[in-house]
Amino acid sequence: MLKIGIVGCGAIGTILAKSIDKNPKAQIVALNDIDETKPENLKNTLLASSPKITTLDQLTDASDLIIECAHKNAVKKIATTALNKKKDILIMSVSALIENPQLFELAKKNNTKIHIPSGAIAGIDALKAGLQNNIKSVTLTTTKPKETLSHAPYIKENKISIEKIKKKTTIFEGNVIEATKGFPENINISATLALAGIGPKKTKVKIIADPESKINIHELKITGDFGEITTTTKNTPCPGNPKTSYLAPLSAIAKIKDIIENTNIGT
Ligand SMILES: NC(=O)c1ccc[n+]([C@@H]2O[C@H](COP(=O)([O-])OP(=O)(O)OC[C@H]3O[C@@H](n4cnc5c(N)ncnc54)[C@H](O)[C@@H]3O)[C@@H](O)[C@H]2O)c1
Repeated sequence: MLKIGIVGCGAIGTILAKSIDKNPKAQIVALNDIDETKPENLKNTLLASSPKITTLDQLTDASDLIIECAHKNAVKKIATTALNKKKDILIMSVSALIENPQLFELAKKNNTKIHIPSGAIAGIDALKAGLQNNIKSVTLTTTKPKETLSHAPYIKENKISIEKIKKKTTIFEGNVIEATKGFPENINISATLALAGIGPKKTKVKIIADPESKINIHELKITGDFGEITTTTKNTPCPGNPKTSYLAPLSAIAKIKDIIENTNIGT
């Protein structure tokens, strides 16, 4: 029985908890959130698990696997605590790993694992395969409903009036370091691509604000010695958080099943 602790009981945390609750080989033992009402409400919806609502330290001690689905700014503390206590961690706020590469060193030193689900995009498997012999370019073009971008630091710093955008508009072009700084809650997928592929400096990102769209669209183009790949993922928003695509928690559920079953299908 895998004992799991969840940090962050919002849209993703709720979907993951409800799925894990149905798996007889896993048990949610602890929940943590800065908003006290969230874990309490989530606990009340679970049928098989009866998790304790705890501090981060207590949650880490009680769990075999820690799931982070909280916030970019919380990752350093959550992951350092988990890895120092020699516990594996699954990270959703992947943007934070671009600024904290030392966490991978810490995982290696402590013989622990950092799990990163693919998120709401197709193509990570092929990117990893292509990387074995020369990837030339990785370009992500993300189109989002304009209102989901309005709180991003890049929008505020550049005084972009999102409400005045009347047609599809490219609002950002740059690399993953710049993208994850400017849009920490919107473009985690670019961090996952960078970590799986040619790194945050070389992985290119374009963000388009669309006043008509209700979905997140990720278009990925990879070129290399293997040839060329293009993928398009049209994502339904997640219940509870329109910034998050539903495929993101679904990819985490698939990853957690692999961890529980000790399987690893795909590259
Ligand atoms: N990897 C991906 O592909 C992907 C996709 C979508 C979202 N995300 C990221 O996953 C995270 C969760 O997304 P969500 O849609 O569930 O967000 P959400 O806002 O619905 O939920 C986040 C929850 O975390 C809590 N929280 C915030 N800071 C915390 C802290 N320091 N300690 C404990 N709890 C804290 C909040 O109170 C909230 O309940 C976000 O960082 C988001 O950017 C990743």
